[in-house]
Amino acid sequence: MQSKIILFIFSLTTVDICRGSILFRTETENSSGKIVGGTDAKPHEFPYQISLQDRGWHICGGTILSDVKIATAAHCCEDYLTTWSDLRVVAGAHVAANSSEPNQQRRSVNRPRIYDGYDQYYKTNDACILTVTEPLELNPAVKAMPLCEVEPAPGTVCTATGWGRTNPDGIRWKGPLQKLNMTIVSRPVCERSYGPLEEDVICAGGVFGKDICFGDSGGPLVCGTGSSKCLAGVASYVSGMGCAQGIPSGFTNVAWFYKFFTNDG
Ligand SMILES: *[C@@H]1O[C@H](CO)[C@@H](O)[C@H](O)[C@H]1NC(C)=O
Ligand SMILES: *[C@@H]1O[C@H](CO)[C@@H](O)[C@H](O)[C@H]1NC(C)=O
Ligand SMILES: *[C@@H]1O[C@H](CO)[C@@H](O)[C@H](O)[C@H]1NC(C)=O
Repeated sequence: MQSKIILFIFSLTTVDICRGSILFRTETENSSGKIVGGTDAKPHEFPYQISLQDRGWHICGGTILSDVKIATAAHCCEDYLTTWSDLRVVAGAHVAANSSEPNQQRRSVNRPRIYDGYDQYYKTNDACILTVTEPLELNPAVKAMPLCEVEPAPGTVCTATGWGRTNPDGIRWKGPLQKLNMTIVSRPVCERSYGPLEEDVICAGGVFGKDICFGDSGGPLVCGTGSSKCLAGVASYVSGMGCAQGIPSGFTNVAWFYKFFTNDG
């Protein structure tokens, strides 16, 4: 069975020793970084995508649910339950690292709200809500994405996006947002890689050389076309072999957390 590696960006200062060493080893073996095998997004092609930043550094992705609410992964929030003042939500970015982009909107956040059942060890129920302290101005570059109420069927082609980087020498991906289509994989097929999975997670991908990777954590997996587009997944983990090794990746199953993300429970 594969172990899981969460997609939090490697950071000497914020990652605990155990998790950090796993990530460091993996990154040493595989320094390709960012969404692996994707292509550049057009500017503002994914206006629902945000960059979650810690004192200016991109650490995770997230999805705009409303002018005040952002969906992300619990493992992106867990280190900030006392230090959330370090966090900024950056919306309207194309190159997240370029703070001179005119469409960028930067917001402080309130204390993150992590799903009660989040398991820090097994990385299950990996869901977090961030609320910004001042509403985002919604416009063509900054838009909300509806939540999927039904999980996507196996075989559905969905789109993952992110600014994930990785490089053991500290070089981060500083380019434009990357996009990658990933096909939903059934839970039984995914369980061949990870062992028993619960409904908190959906799997996608499994194509060698094409995957989400470190720093894509918390970011969107959107399914459907036109007005039926919805947020189906929140990037959570890749297999213990590393990114893009031909094993499906895990996304928080947004439909399963619908009530949590709509704040009803
Ligand atoms: C990851 O690293 C291994 C070993 O260097 C390499 O063979 C493989 O192609 C890399 N994977 C990707 C997706 O770049
Ligand atoms: C940053 O954004 C500004 C404004 O769009 C642009 O003029 C500049 O070339 C960008 N710099 C980089 C390094 O992308
Ligand atoms: C990715 O999926 C979208 C939506 O299904 C589709 O419009 C697009 O053509 C796909 N792109 C690629 C490169 O397959």
